[in-house]
Amino acid sequence: MSELLKVEDVKKYFPRGNKILKAVDGVSFTLRSAETLGLVGESGSGKSTLGRTILRLHEPDAGRVVFDGEELSSLNKEELRIKRRHMQIIFQDPLASLNPQMSIGQAIEDPLVIHGISSARERKERVAELLKIVDISPEFINSFPYEFSGGQQQRIGIARALALNPKFIVCDEPVSALDVSIQAQVIALLLELRERFNLSYLFIAHDLGVIKYISDRIAVMYQGQIVQIGPKEEVFKNPAHPYTQALISSVPKIPWNGKPTRHYKTLKGEVPSPIDLPPGCRFCSRCPIPLPICGEIAPEGKEISTGHWVACHRS
Ligand SMILES: Nc1ncnc2c1ncn2[C@@H]1O[C@H](COP(=O)(O)OP(=O)(O)OP(=O)(O)O)[C@@H](O)[C@H]1O
Ligand SMILES: [Mg+2]
Repeated sequence: MSELLKVEDVKKYFPRGNKILKAVDGVSFTLRSAETLGLVGESGSGKSTLGRTILRLHEPDAGRVVFDGEELSSLNKEELRIKRRHMQIIFQDPLASLNPQMSIGQAIEDPLVIHGISSARERKERVAELLKIVDISPEFINSFPYEFSGGQQQRIGIARALALNPKFIVCDEPVSALDVSIQAQVIALLLELRERFNLSYLFIAHDLGVIKYISDRIAVMYQGQIVQIGPKEEVFKNPAHPYTQALISSVPKIPWNGKPTRHYKTLKGEVPSPIDLPPGCRFCSRCPIPLPICGEIAPEGKEISTGHWVACHRS
């Protein structure tokens, strides 16, 4: 599998009053063609900001993003627009991401129009084909988003994302708002599409249940940084970072796949303010096993097995 995406030391800061909120603070990883990297971490850890910054929906404050052999910051507006065809995003709330005034046919056709693709007739054919791909009957082409269920709306969002034959899709919590039984169907569809179209996903979620199912590799994010990243089996076999351990011992209150729940093990200690981060390890205040050095020096990433990195002084 060849390398499709290379993210190098990317930072995205937001001004907050007279302070700086380090939403993404030095993230690096690579993604191969047809590979899924699951990105997990609690609310506010910077997952969506990272996804958006990679797609340059946010301008990064530092770092490099190389997609399909080209550094995105070196592209001018027009070149970036063309490149964007191959990089798409699917959101948690499909209804909010679809224009309520557009029929679903128009919504899916829209990217084809924007990118000046083919004749009106060819576009109609492509829309019908896309609806079929996501298992929505083309007879609903003139219906409006609100007429569909949440799962169907997400399928429509997926069809729209697929319209321009992307290579890479940021899936930003695409099933978090759906009923458990529907979640499994949408996940199955995303897996099928990955095989069929050789797609790479950055798949964002709060909990490890869905991530474990869909991902090849897993990245655990805490306060703007990746604290552990590696092949899925390795991360589960050896959750070396105490934050990964806490995530693994927690499960969603409603399990997405109907399996029995384990009890949620809450972390004690205060979450540091993102605009006032401590000098040492950002997880130190909640870590059950801190060392004296953890409060003073931020841990560097260490490779604990092939392609498996952990940023913890205990590793
Ligand atoms: N456009 C923005 N302007 C200012 N601050 C922002 C912006 N987007 C995100 N943030 C802040 O950046 C931090 C990371 O937010 P982000 O939405 O990336 O987290 P997340 O991990 O996706 O959370 P969730 O799981 O709730 O979706 C938060 O403190 C958030 O308030
Ligand atoms: Mg988010």
